[in-house]
Formats: sequence, structure tokens, C-alpha cells
Amino acid sequence: MDLSINGRVHTLPDAAVDPQMPLLWVIRDVLDLTGTKFGCGVAACGACTVHVDGQAVRSCVTPLAAVAGKAVTTIEALGTPERPHALQRAWLAHQVPQCGYCQSGMLMAAAALLDRNREPSDADIDAAITNICRCGTTPRIRDAIKTAAREQRGAPRKLPPAPPDPPRGATGAA
Ligand code: FES
Ligand code: FES
Repeated sequence: MDLSINGRVHTLPDAAVDPQMPLLWVIRDVLDLTGTKFGCGVAACGACTVHVDGQAVRSCVTPLAAVAGKAVTTIEALGTPERPHALQRAWLAHQVPQCGYCQSGMLMAAAALLDRNREPSDADIDAAITNICRCGTTPRIRDAIKTAAREQRGAPRKLPPAPPDPPRGATGAA
């Protein structure tokens, strides 16, 4: 079977893949694209989110056969170190990731949202991003999505305030 991932067509040997194999296993174990994570395996957490023809999809419950002839995009193709996606820049500015495990799925869900909504409200974000973060980054994710959306609309980025200066003497300075 041919599988289009990140703009490249891979021919998967029939002996190596079952059409009912979850897309997540193919992405991680066959193609070695390990940015997409396994969390729950039952479409509940969103750690495994990828795009299929531009829509956010939970790859742990998507059989390989369901993406035949479609374009799959994973976190590895969202941006590059040289040209990060606006969301990736905003993620850093807002220091969103904590343990990081859920973050690739969060970013893919957020990217799909921004592709169809240039100015999402908190309610839009909450409706679209149903992924789970056990580190509690949801408030920062909302802010980062709105920062990236502003940048994509050509408006100045609204960044979080700088952290306060450390107490005098905390850095060893006199
Ligand atoms: S691993 Fe797919 S939704 Fe949790
Ligand atoms: S950053 Fe740790 S689970 Fe989300």
C-alpha cells in the first residue's frame, strides 16, 4: 500500500502492514516518526493527533486503510528549526510545554483549528482542542493559539509579560 506522509509517498510492503493496523503504529513503528505519541489508545487523550487531508485525526483509532489516497501530516512536518510554524514560536514564547508528552498532539490539533478559524475565541479553542494535558497547560495553550493567530493575521504578536526580576541578592550580585 502507498501511504503519503509529510509530502512523501512510502510504499509499505503488504507483509509488514495490515490494513487494519492503527495509523499510529505505522507512523511510529514502521516509519520511525516518533514525534506522534501513544497515550490512551482509545481516542480519549489526543496525544496521537495527526492531520489527514488537513483535519485533526486521532491516529490510534484510525486504521491504515482509512487513509489510503489521503495526505497525512505529522508533527515532524509542522515546521522546521529554521522555519518554525507560528504556533511553535508562540508555544516557546508562552513556555507552554511542561513534561511535553501531549504537546505534539496539541500542536497538530491547534494547527488544524487555525487553518479553519483565523481568530478563535476561548470557546472555539475549548471546543476544538479536546486533547488532555495532565500538566495543566490548557490556559497557556489558549494564549499561545491566540498569539499565533494574531501573527498569522499580520497583527503584532502579544507576548506574555516578562517574568519579574529575581529578589536582590538572589543572583549573587551585591
Ligand atoms: S493515544 Fe490516541 S487519543 Fe490517546
Ligand atoms: S505538558 Fe505534560 S501532559 Fe501536557
